[in-house]
Amino acid sequence: PPSAPLVIAIDGPAASGKGTLARRLAAALGFAHLDTGGLYRAVGLTLRRAGQDPADAGLAARAAAALTPGDIAGLMADPELRTEATAQAASLVSVVPAVRQALLDFQRDFAARPPALAGGTRARGAVLDGRDIGTVVCPGAQAKLYVTATVEVRAERRLKELQGRGAVAIYADVLKDMKDRDARDSQRAVAPLKPAADAYLLDTSSLDADQAFDAAMTFVRAKPAFN
Ligand code: DC
Repeated sequence: PPSAPLVIAIDGPAASGKGTLARRLAAALGFAHLDTGGLYRAVGLTLRRAGQDPADAGLAARAAAALTPGDIAGLMADPELRTEATAQAASLVSVVPAVRQALLDFQRDFAARPPALAGGTRARGAVLDGRDIGTVVCPGAQAKLYVTATVEVRAERRLKELQGRGAVAIYADVLKDMKDRDARDSQRAVAPLKPAADAYLLDTSSLDADQAFDAAMTFVRAKPAFN
């Protein structure tokens, strides 16, 4: 039988560059990729669309438990998933332990049985990016990275990304949203944002996407499991 899939865990705050890095590592290694923030965004967006308050723990727990893999696939492709309003809703629902519990099986299942790649090729492993992958979801991951950048650099990146999509955004607002989300994500009681003890710390404040990718690839390739 084929050997158990390898897992790369990538954690870090919003706009640290972890999503881009995760996608590029997955493509380079022939791994499947799961953006776990998208799952929390899917719950937040479901509540917003139903006119429900994302800060209501009971409603958030119910929405998370009711999400089917089909719902998740649809919501992951929805342009509304990427708005700042959905990001804030995601951060609010993500403090609820029952929401985290409801999304845990989906994430662990993805890591244990990564879906086939485009073209039907079997994935050799999975890259998951989020806040608690190396600490809670996949503590046994063969490679863990913690990607950071200063909050000012991250706000600047997010501003460019929003403007690139044609959204109207102001730096001061984006910076404030980023600080609010950082505080909520790192101070929550369950599975807060923090580096795993064995994570490789990658500060991308003064790196572009290519440089971050090269540094990450060098780290991953040095692990015997990836040779
Ligand atoms: O990575 P992102 O910006 O799409 O994440 C949106 C929110 O989801 C984030 O502010 C906190 C939450 N989240 C989480 O709690 N755990 C994860 N593994 C991923 C995201």
